[in-house]
Amino acid sequence: MPENLTEQAAALLKNGNVVAVPTETVYGLACDAENENAIAQVFALKGRPQDNPLILHACDLAMVEHFFGPLPDIVLRLAEAFWPGPLTLLLPRPKGRFSMATAHRPLAGVRIPAHPLFREVIQKTGKLIAAPSANLSGRPSPTRAGHVRDDFGDRIPLILDGGASEAGLESTVLDPLSHPPRILRPGVIGLPELQNFWPEIASSWKDGAVHEAESPGLKYRHYAPSKPLILLKNEPLHGELLLCFEDELERYQGQGAVTLSLGHKSAESAGRNLFSALREAEKRSQERILIVPFPNTLEWDAVNNRLNRALQGDNPSIPTPAPQD
Ligand code: TXA
Ligand code: MG
Repeated sequence: MPENLTEQAAALLKNGNVVAVPTETVYGLACDAENENAIAQVFALKGRPQDNPLILHACDLAMVEHFFGPLPDIVLRLAEAFWPGPLTLLLPRPKGRFSMATAHRPLAGVRIPAHPLFREVIQKTGKLIAAPSANLSGRPSPTRAGHVRDDFGDRIPLILDGGASEAGLESTVLDPLSHPPRILRPGVIGLPELQNFWPEIASSWKDGAVHEAESPGLKYRHYAPSKPLILLKNEPLHGELLLCFEDELERYQGQGAVTLSLGHKSAESAGRNLFSALREAEKRSQERILIVPFPNTLEWDAVNNRLNRALQGDNPSIPTPAPQD
């Protein structure tokens, strides 16, 4: 990536523009976290409800400390273990700052992304950069520059192409200062990994103990492709479009299905490929998309969470308020 593209992205951000950036999780729709005009543009472009806070991104720990002051010991230990990387930590918001980006909440979600291009851009701006996933609200998250182009076309001045997102799923959102510390959104860093590090962490989101008021993203429709997505049961497969794993391709093709691969059967590769496969499936001629169910173990939690929400997006019996992130 030529030096001048990150230079250009930083200059655009400093001037209050919105720029799409690559991260190791999904692409982000970035803006200066203190520029209210730019933040308003991000909400408007996505069609995002105003009460859903944006994650703030820093290039390094010094930058987090610069804006948030001295960090509690446990935050420093988490940062050392998981940053740069796909863990978003909720921290007390500095008085009078980042109010609009965080939807006026007392806690701000912060992370240091691992993608070198995005970190370089943040470093060049010297500012915290707010960035939700770079998709129209309610749609599958973007894991390639082309996905961002499909949703926004030329309505944003620059899409920084950093290749396919390595993880393909969003960050885990953790509130480390609540008692017990709680996961508000499952993500790339799994519960076992976090609990290894810190056994008290509760997976409260799973048993419904996380309320919409604490994790506003929960209440909105998410990740839904533009045509019905249906979990494979026993239907005849002739002519159907089916998302399945590499070692199942032949079997299902033998039954007449048109297949799209989710890679090897692992949570990691399902995570990496799910959103891009949904977006690819949208472009095919079939009127609906079938998908194989995933194993129901802890390892598959985050990817099952995304799949379930994508399925619900098309089920009229489940209330789905406004479209979201
Ligand atoms: O991996 C990611 O997290 C990506 C990349 C671009 O960093 N970003 C992302 O942002 O997924 P978004 O806006 O699509 O999802 C952010 C989620 C939402 O569910 C939001 O409600 C939650 O994080 N969140 C953000 N700030 C929060 C806060 N202060 N309190 C509670 N939840 C928050
Ligand atoms: Mg999102």
